[in-house]
Amino acid sequence: MDDLFAPLTTPRRESLAEGAVLLRARALPFETILLAALDAVIAASPFRHMVTPGGYRMSVAMTNCGAAGWVSDRSGYRYDPIDPVTGRPWPAMPDGFLTLARAAADEGGYTDFRPDACLINRYEPGARLSLHQDRNERDFGHPIVSVSLGLPATFQFGGLKRTGPVRKFRVLHGDIVVWGGSARLRYHGVAALKDGNHETMGRQRINLTFRVAR
Ligand code: SIN
Ligand code: FE2
Repeated sequence: MDDLFAPLTTPRRESLAEGAVLLRARALPFETILLAALDAVIAASPFRHMVTPGGYRMSVAMTNCGAAGWVSDRSGYRYDPIDPVTGRPWPAMPDGFLTLARAAADEGGYTDFRPDACLINRYEPGARLSLHQDRNERDFGHPIVSVSLGLPATFQFGGLKRTGPVRKFRVLHGDIVVWGGSARLRYHGVAALKDGNHETMGRQRINLTFRVAR
């Protein structure tokens, strides 16, 4: 029986590199909780297209929750406790977000993960995120936990230099990628989102990345 079905099953856990793992479908049991919490966050701090220090409007729309939020504007990239659009603190990190992020970090080998920031990215068809390192956080000793929702995307995972080989992984609704340790500063990005319609999320992909910012 096992032999018959083995080729049809996807592995639950895939290694991307030393210190980096893809946990397939790990967020699915949290789907209802995540989507309700997400609606509440977006109602308080809506998605917006930030501008890069170079003056380009990002194709990915962003918002945040938690004690600190990632922002970009003409003066640079930083974490800020205040949402510059509302002038108020970012919405608190929902309990369900925290529980899932901590469990995923544990399963990736990173115990006692206490994220204080969750960057929420919304990709509509055509939106992309070019290769970058997550390096605005104060302490790279903490991992990054990245939850994919909605349309499938191509997650690009490279090395410690911008140039050099990049591996590609198709990330689906409910998948979680965790990277830390020697993989913490690996370049990564998301290829232009292909159009489609996801049964619960519609024509978009939403990604939650949990970080210890401060
Ligand atoms: C990010 O690097 O902040 C987001 C990655 C993703 O959307 O999968
Ligand atoms: Fe990133």
